[in-house]
Amino acid sequence: MKKFAILCSGGDSQGMNACVKAFVISCISNNIMPIGVRRGYAGLLESDFMELTHDYVNKIELLGGSILKSSRSKEFQTASGVQIGADNLKKFGIDGIVIVGGNGSLRGMEDLTNVGVKAVGIPATIDNDTFYSDYSLGFDTAVQNDVLAIDNMRQSFEANDRTLVVETMGRGCGDIALNTALITGAHSLAVGELNTKISDVKNDVLLAIKSGVKSPLVVVSENCNFKTEEIRKELDNAGIDSRVQILGYIQRGGCPSVLDRKLGYVWGIESVRHLMENKVSVALGFKDNHFIDVPIHLANNTKQNFNINMVKQLNILNGRN
Ligand code: F6P
Repeated sequence: MKKFAILCSGGDSQGMNACVKAFVISCISNNIMPIGVRRGYAGLLESDFMELTHDYVNKIELLGGSILKSSRSKEFQTASGVQIGADNLKKFGIDGIVIVGGNGSLRGMEDLTNVGVKAVGIPATIDNDTFYSDYSLGFDTAVQNDVLAIDNMRQSFEANDRTLVVETMGRGCGDIALNTALITGAHSLAVGELNTKISDVKNDVLLAIKSGVKSPLVVVSENCNFKTEEIRKELDNAGIDSRVQILGYIQRGGCPSVLDRKLGYVWGIESVRHLMENKVSVALGFKDNHFIDVPIHLANNTKQNFNINMVKQLNILNGRN
């Protein structure tokens, strides 16, 4: 009987569990034994393998986090670590592996393929920084969580005529902040990609107040080259009452959105098909409304294409052309 394995790696993200479920069911219905690698690459180095069953994946699609757990393994980033991982797969007679994770995890997958492992990658990170694909698992839910949190907070901020400054996650990528800003109608967006300065934020807020807004909203990505708290000082000096809220891990938790669940299912099913048909060394994605697969070295070398159109749309919503 053939054995295919799956692991989740890096920061957990919503939709990983839906993907694992679809992988398991797809394997079983093709008479392949599904193997879960616990704790990502750290577990691969220790052969932390388990056979997955229908029972194990029952209802897991409803959960955030990673049922298989996840990790960021430093040891796997060395040539000897990669070789140990490949040897462990061979020792346990595993014919192919699916790697579910962000850009670091997909680089790890490329290393595995370079030592002969048959592997397929699935983009999973709230950051959306796997640039060959329009979406990675978890991004949509993270934005949704941010929007809900901001919508709630604004009721209180509006009651007090205060400016709300919200910091989002995203590591080096401003996509969460950009999408959150558009959907919540933020008056100012600060992202590394636009090299936003604190003075730009202050000017945006002053402009909003001048046009009659009593409680402006600022969305800041953690990828800016200043501390979000510094905005409060700048606004204070201009006589504007504000509070900074760092959304943090609320973005990584909770039931996946419809889109993340759907992407997880489709990619889980497709990963098994790819392994069965020996269409390996590819990363699965979703681009321009189509499901795609891309050779892993191309996927890993795709540069960011920050959505400037969306920035323009945000400006239009703010009455600026
Ligand atoms: O990569 C996902 C992410 O949540 C980033 O947005 C954030 O910067 C980082 O992980 C936090 O890392 P950790 O979970 O290791 O603290």
